[in-house]
Amino acid sequence: MTRTVLVTGGGGVGKTTIAAALGVAAAQAGHTTLVLTVDPARRLATALGLDQLGNHPEPNPKLKGLSAAMLDSAASWDAIAFRHAPGEIAERLVTNPLFEAVATRFPSGQAYAAAEEMAVHLESGQWDVVVVDTPPASGGIEFFSAPRRMRELVGGRLLRWLTGAGLPGRRGLFNLAGRPALRLADALLGGPLLEQVAEFLFDLRTTYDGISAKAGVIEQHFDEAATLVVTTADPGPLREALRFHEVGIEPSLVVFNRALPREWASIAEPLEDGRAATALNDNLARWALEVRRQEDSRADFSGRVGTPIVTIPWLADAPVDLDGLRAVLSGAPTLTLDRLGI
Ligand SMILES: Nc1ncnc2c1ncn2[C@@H]1O[C@H](COP(=O)(O)OP(=O)(O)OP(=O)(O)O)[C@@H](O)[C@H]1O
Ligand SMILES: [Mg+2]
Repeated sequence: MTRTVLVTGGGGVGKTTIAAALGVAAAQAGHTTLVLTVDPARRLATALGLDQLGNHPEPNPKLKGLSAAMLDSAASWDAIAFRHAPGEIAERLVTNPLFEAVATRFPSGQAYAAAEEMAVHLESGQWDVVVVDTPPASGGIEFFSAPRRMRELVGGRLLRWLTGAGLPGRRGLFNLAGRPALRLADALLGGPLLEQVAEFLFDLRTTYDGISAKAGVIEQHFDEAATLVVTTADPGPLREALRFHEVGIEPSLVVFNRALPREWASIAEPLEDGRAATALNDNLARWALEVRRQEDSRADFSGRVGTPIVTIPWLADAPVDLDGLRAVLSGAPTLTLDRLGI
């Protein structure tokens, strides 16, 4: 069975880096591993062996057992339409201007399309381990709520209210237009538009069975995966990390990234007098304060939630090659593959 690790959290906290580092570690441990990454920095993409940034897995020329592919965070609504509606209807849907309007106003659609893409890889049976770097929208939470939201959108109350409980036949569209809800819309919007709306809603509803079934499967993948919420000790990312608990998502681990070395909290011997030394001492004292602040915020966080916490040290060199990625986990002895069920 494929083991899935989801790496999520707020913007810029280190999700892509940590997902890549876990992928490297899993491949080195002998597991056939796929890293699904989102918008990696150019050098990191190269280190992962992703010279063409596509969604087809590319084997890493420098590390046996490791492959990487892009998870398109802007994966299109078109893909959803073509996957879940018969070709002719999908064609009509994607050329309907209302479809574009829904697509731009309902960002969960993009996250959902990315989740469907993830599911394709998880279900291929090709991988022992798939590490997923999640799209950053809404601190990563969007990715987890997208299946439910999509199901609600295409099968939800608004559509049922307008189109009735069952799906009317195509000819039923005329009767449909007589429904009070649509008559009201007609009065407000004008006739030709109403017809377009009715047709659009009708077409959108044909995707319901497919989306509903697939959304359920994706939610199951989420439940079975190890989920890592990445944060730093800063207030913004911390708030995002806490939101997972608030919405009832229990991560497997919370990772505090870019932690400063504990030793910095105590400066053994202040430097001797002199202007440069004074400036340095000030500087060291400030870093020591920052270390204590980071420790306090970790203690505060673990006081609020029960999830185990691990730290990854702040590395002087941004990890952008295989050695750098190895260094990420070698500084975090408590973040083991074992703890992720790998
Ligand atoms: N432990 C670390 N030490 C030093 N630099 C780090 C560490 N982790 C990540 N970085 C650097 O921080 C920056 C952001 O990391 P990364 O791109 O992995 O974050 P992200 O959460 O994926 O961001 P986004 O939300 O934009 O996708 C990068 O420049 C990365 O090299
Ligand atoms: Mg990223």
